[in-house]
Amino acid sequence: MVIKSVQLETVCGITSKLPDNILPEIAFAGKSNVGKSSLINGIMNRKSLARTSSQPGKTQTINFYNVNEVFYLVDLPGYGYAKANQEVKAQWGKMIERYLHSSKQLKAVFLLIDIRHDPSANDKQMYQWMRHYGFDPIIIATKLDKINRSQIQKQLKAIRVGLEAQKDTIIIPYSSLSKQGREEIYDLLDSILSE
Ligand code: GTP
Ligand code: MG
Repeated sequence: MVIKSVQLETVCGITSKLPDNILPEIAFAGKSNVGKSSLINGIMNRKSLARTSSQPGKTQTINFYNVNEVFYLVDLPGYGYAKANQEVKAQWGKMIERYLHSSKQLKAVFLLIDIRHDPSANDKQMYQWMRHYGFDPIIIATKLDKINRSQIQKQLKAIRVGLEAQKDTIIIPYSSLSKQGREEIYDLLDSILSE
């Protein structure tokens, strides 16, 4: 994949109508602060088009990035943001669910899990939810640079077991610092978009 153009095209808040896109969409979900916006920047080859923050709860809208006028990368708000009040959390859960099951152009979903941690109850629920809606989520184990090489296989195994993932579920370790894992993600995007 070669990135020729990127543009933030649509921003949806809780009450916004979701866009009726013609181009295919690929969405990124995961706990708050796991690195969704950083991964999207890495894929787009931009430092900060998608806004990131060390404080969880940065992305509070569903953002559609048009790439090459060929497809959209969809940056979702994180779940499990402890400071958000219950009502806001519930509204966001509903909005994300609505998007996942109503988008006609959603071709693939990526679920991001911090490679240092076992999946949480919310992560497991999200994985099952995506499967329920007919997706085969691709798992990205983020923040690869934060652990020792010797720990990588053990952590990948813990993520697979924790999610009760299917045997053929793809798990890619990724670092937004070194961009390790990016080529594999580009190859996957190419194959998703050629289906
Ligand atoms: P929300 O929008 O709050 O849901 O978070 P997000 O999932 O979009 O996370 P974001 O990309 O904003 O990253 C959160 C923090 O983690 C930022 O301080 C990033 O710099 C950092 N971060 C993200 N990916 C990596 C990584 O691969 N390695 C390291 N070391 N830090 C990372
Ligand atoms: Mg974000």
